[in-house]
Amino acid sequence: MDLAVAVIAHDHLAEAAHTALVIAAQGTRLSPAATALNEASAGALQAALDAAGFEGKPGQTQTLYGLNGVKASLVLVVGAGDAEAINLQQWQKIITSAMKALPNKMSKVASTLCELPVAGRDLNERISDHARFALAASYRFDAYKTKKPTTEVAKVKLTLAIADKAELKAAKEALVWGQCIGTGQNFARDLGNQPANVAYPGYLAEMALALGDDGNMKVDVKGDAELRKMGMHCLLSVSAGSAHEAQLVTMTYSGGKAKDAPVVLVGKGITFDTGGISLKPGGGMDEMKYDMCGAASVLGVMAAIKLAKLKLNVIGVIACAENMPSSTATRPGDIVTTLSGQTVEILNTDAEGRLVLCDALTYVERFKPAAVVDIATLTGACVVALGKVATGLFSPKDELADELLAAGQRVDDRAWRMPVWDDYQELLDSPFADIANIGGPTAGSITAACYLARFTKAYDWAHLDIAGTAWLSGAAKGSTGRPVPLLLEFLRARAAA
Ligand code: BES
Ligand code: MN
Ligand code: ZN
Repeated sequence: MDLAVAVIAHDHLAEAAHTALVIAAQGTRLSPAATALNEASAGALQAALDAAGFEGKPGQTQTLYGLNGVKASLVLVVGAGDAEAINLQQWQKIITSAMKALPNKMSKVASTLCELPVAGRDLNERISDHARFALAASYRFDAYKTKKPTTEVAKVKLTLAIADKAELKAAKEALVWGQCIGTGQNFARDLGNQPANVAYPGYLAEMALALGDDGNMKVDVKGDAELRKMGMHCLLSVSAGSAHEAQLVTMTYSGGKAKDAPVVLVGKGITFDTGGISLKPGGGMDEMKYDMCGAASVLGVMAAIKLAKLKLNVIGVIACAENMPSSTATRPGDIVTTLSGQTVEILNTDAEGRLVLCDALTYVERFKPAAVVDIATLTGACVVALGKVATGLFSPKDELADELLAAGQRVDDRAWRMPVWDDYQELLDSPFADIANIGGPTAGSITAACYLARFTKAYDWAHLDIAGTAWLSGAAKGSTGRPVPLLLEFLRARAAA
């Protein structure tokens, strides 16, 4: 999808050289742009809506062809509801419906939807939102369909219309930022949807290396031999049963001042999670290809900030491994030494995410980070607690937690805070090693976070459990690209501060 922003005054809409115009009805009330078009069509627009019984409910659409006095062959009316200001969720629904209602042959489209009042969002934010929502709506994953579906939304040239020339410069910047979010999020979705026979650890490393090709990001890849030499035995214990080497990938983006401490993002990159010797049940196991969505979100964010030329130092680290059972796999009861020197008794090989993360989290101490945020599809317990709506947020640091919560709120990619109190730590006691890799049957997402807390004492740290939010099952099955918007908003705010 090609995106642009342009000034189209309301009294010029009727002559605009687009094949389709998108306008809104706020309930039965026409938006300002729609009102102008209605006048240009001598009331034909309103008459057609009345005849169709159009109510203007949020997301409801009506296509009107060949309106008298309007050059565009299609006017797509989308309902926005009659509330004084719509919220961000409704805003996304309205734009998604409009994009999905565009017929295939419409290639040059102008949307006036940025004129709608969205609670808490100024014009520039609405432009960013519109851009990223349109990109999300046009997302398809059909790389493996030999008969391509016929939808061509991806080819649309979409112009976001604004009415005032004075707003154009800022609007263009806002558009670029929205495009960067949408592009980063769709990239993360692509990676999450890739099957695990394609997207094994080396594939994620290749993706990272490709991001460094233009010289704007330094990328370092470490394989088994180097990881062993460094002492990252806990990470290696997870890939021990796999034919694929583990990979620790570090992407360094230096958009800020040389002396500024970097924000470090650490992603769980289990390219397939069978559970290992603690084998998972068979039903729905295919979905465990998405156990690398933490890593995918880090790659998506790095791609986006590079596109946006964000003025901040950011380091992205992904810890990649495939968790397989085999004669060389780690067994329950095995004890390994982590990079930190602490020993771990692996009581359950299916609690592998924390095993790759703990070594990566120790590794990043060397960057003297301003803050570290890890992102992981870490626990089924988090899905039980928060479902598919909120990402689980764990942090001993109130300021950092609040910053992330607020960023998620602003872009409607929300997280909800859970405790990482020391009171839970005793659940991880092991009779044979410094720590066990599982707690008891209770508070599973919290004990997982508490495990990580033992490796993150050297810096400000937060953990995002995205087991519920990174993936949708059922009709909309596939990767969501969350929490790319949350992370990018968090970084944008840090860069602006
Ligand atoms: N990747 C899973 C967590 C998961 C479950 C993600 C469902 C998405 C959907 C993780 O590696 C795992 O298996 N966790 C175990 C931990 C348990 C053994 C302590 C779990 O949640 O059951
Ligand atoms: Mn697992
Ligand atoms: Zn896992």
